[in-house]
Amino acid sequence: MAKQNAVVTGWGFYAPSRVVTNFDLEKIVDTSDQWITERTGIKERRFAGEGESTATMSTRAARIALECARMRPSEVELIIVGTLTPDYLMPATACLVQTALGADRAGAFDIEAACTSFVSGLAIANGMIIAGSVKNALVIGAETLSRMLDMKDRTTCVVFGDGAGAVVLQASNASVGIESTVLHSDGAKGELLYVKAGASKVPATHETVDKGQHFIRMQGGEVFKMAVKSMADAAEEAIADAGLELKDIDIVIPHQANKRIIEGVAKRLDIPMSKVFVNLEKYGNTSAASIPIAIAEAANEGRLKRGQKVLLVAFGGGFTWGAAVLEWWGSPLPAPHAPGMRERAARALEDVVDRVRPT
Ligand code: ACO
Repeated sequence: MAKQNAVVTGWGFYAPSRVVTNFDLEKIVDTSDQWITERTGIKERRFAGEGESTATMSTRAARIALECARMRPSEVELIIVGTLTPDYLMPATACLVQTALGADRAGAFDIEAACTSFVSGLAIANGMIIAGSVKNALVIGAETLSRMLDMKDRTTCVVFGDGAGAVVLQASNASVGIESTVLHSDGAKGELLYVKAGASKVPATHETVDKGQHFIRMQGGEVFKMAVKSMADAAEEAIADAGLELKDIDIVIPHQANKRIIEGVAKRLDIPMSKVFVNLEKYGNTSAASIPIAIAEAANEGRLKRGQKVLLVAFGGGFTWGAAVLEWWGSPLPAPHAPGMRERAARALEDVVDRVRPT
């Protein structure tokens, strides 16, 4: 069998409609638009509305990504949801997405590597496609962080937001797609960014809830310092693993944690900010969702062009960090694996049947 590469052939994102501006936060916590803007670059973020959850937002993003890739849910072989805010501890959010999509052939599981979850999911899906275990995968990063924020804690509540992003990866023997992935961790630093209670070590009790131990706590300054160095190191490693040099990278899509972190990474790598995609002013830090949302926005805005070398780089709780380099193709799949005329005709027919089928 010819060597298979994993190619991004679809993308989509969903941001809840409820916009929470810095001015809104000024009314509930001792902060200011000026402080948040200067220290983070964030102007507003989205908070999930009633009835919305990580699974519902993931499903919306996934539907758009599948449509973009011109794939039907029944063709999906694997669904990975990266999240630290799953709907439940069990079942996995990926299973909720699987059933909502009607992806009846897909395996499904969640992964949790905080803000590095999407890059981690991409690395797993890439490995499974290269190994020939699956022909395609939906990789989703999604968070409902607003439900884990202490709205009295100004050091966290101004930083995070909700949303979901998804990409479709498909196997292809064309020489495009993911060229390298690197993942790292340092569990000794876990308590600098963590949620103390609500799982098996410290189960939820009235006391843990009264103490607010189910909320995200962060020592931001420590996270900041580690983030810049680790992201720059991972970027250099992934670029070298891809057989490339920094100058070959056309666009960087970093985890959208903080504008100063992103600028610090760009400076360390000596990459001009004109090559770095930033959208955190609109969404804040959406953890696992930030890179796939940014990929989708960059693609929709025409910032990603066929043949470009794209660097993804992330850092998050754990600590975890990682990077990936890929050659952008776009949609649909490169010719060798694009559906033939028969399949396209069959699919068009199924679409017509779907449209006329009574609901
Ligand atoms: N409004 C006003 N003042 C504030 C606020 C606020 N929202 N938050 C903190 N301050 C105050 C502090 O109390 C402190 O006051 P003091 O000097 O009187 O003690 C001062 O501002 C400076 O505080 P620092 O924490 O040093 O501020 P810093 O410049 O480090 O910015 C921030 C804080 C934005 C959180 C930053 O450290 C950061 O972005 N860290 C990284 C976060 C991150 O990347 N997370 C990624 C992973 S997230 C994940 O995995 C889920």
